[in-house]
Amino acid sequence: MSIEMHSRRRFLVGSASAATLTAFGTGGLSSLSAFATPSRLSDDGGSFVPYGAAVRSDALSADSSYREAVIVNCQLVVPESELKWLELRPAPDQYRFGKADAIIDFARQNGIRVRGHTLAWYGALPKWTESIATRADAERELTDHIETVVSRYKGAIPSWDVINEPLVDWPESAASLRPSIWARRLGPDYLRLALKATAAVDADAQLVINEYDVEYAGARFSAKRSALVQLLRSLRDRDVPLHAVGLQAHLFAGRTIDRDGLQSLLTEIKALNLDVLITELDVIDRELPSEIHERDKLVADLANQFLGAVHEVIRPKAILTWGLSDRYTWVPIYFKRRDGMPNRPLPLDADLKPKPLFEVIEQFRHRA
Ligand code: XIL
Repeated sequence: MSIEMHSRRRFLVGSASAATLTAFGTGGLSSLSAFATPSRLSDDGGSFVPYGAAVRSDALSADSSYREAVIVNCQLVVPESELKWLELRPAPDQYRFGKADAIIDFARQNGIRVRGHTLAWYGALPKWTESIATRADAERELTDHIETVVSRYKGAIPSWDVINEPLVDWPESAASLRPSIWARRLGPDYLRLALKATAAVDADAQLVINEYDVEYAGARFSAKRSALVQLLRSLRDRDVPLHAVGLQAHLFAGRTIDRDGLQSLLTEIKALNLDVLITELDVIDRELPSEIHERDKLVADLANQFLGAVHEVIRPKAILTWGLSDRYTWVPIYFKRRDGMPNRPLPLDADLKPKPLFEVIEQFRHRA
């Protein structure tokens, strides 16, 4: 994507242009195979780091000002739920692709690239997966799912969070895997199986392990960093295909960022020849003051601190926030404020106006 195009988009922030408003979800899937093959995100040698956000299909179809803000500001999108098992797999023998297809179509029509989230996770699994009874069944279900989903979107989704949140909150080692049907039935081998299955279907896709809580000071968080490095090393040692680590970066105001701890994690990741993506950045503002200017500044400061620490070690291949606008954010589901005021975790406010966080991300995107 050219810088000119980017500037045009930036210029349009907040001023919806009728010319760029595109019908959502009308294209159908027939055109999927005609997608221009986007380069793997890790191959992006551009002069700025691509920015993107998690998007919601229902909001994209119902809310034209939100849709326009996504078109104007995002070079990347990631479906917030639409590619999770819960959405895709209502029954063992059924796939429901409509909402994911609609997002991919929207992205294609607007020259936006798509990341996939996620193939092997403990969360958002439909109830029926609990009855996967044997190792052989689990292996078959997981690989069938990956083969079906990844091949459908081959060329349209150049980067996948193959594994999401593999580790428990306070791991003792890389073996401390978060309980899930995959870990229960397949043990640690589920990681290798999922990564290999994805690579087998799409050899060009960027394969990512995505994890959270790796940036803070405290024993729990340093345990997470150590276990993650151990896990990455063990995959590398066994030649399991893997290209990047996703740092979710749900930043909690109130916790302290461990600059040294984070930077040594990144140094290890770099030494393993893996790329880094910031995949779900937002700031959990539950503990921050009510006053909006002060709050927005503290939100931006925290992101600045985090991105600054990252950038000193490695230039991320992409920066994505978990939502674009405070109008649509997961934060209040778990982290509602006690003063009853709406959360303000994202780069645009609920009126789609850029906040200080937006400027912070802009600055880092353009840093060499
Ligand atoms: C969240 C979505 O934002 C919610 O809408 C959904 O109900 C639950 O999942 N880490 C992840 C994401 O990797 O998949 C989660 O997304 C947020 C935390």
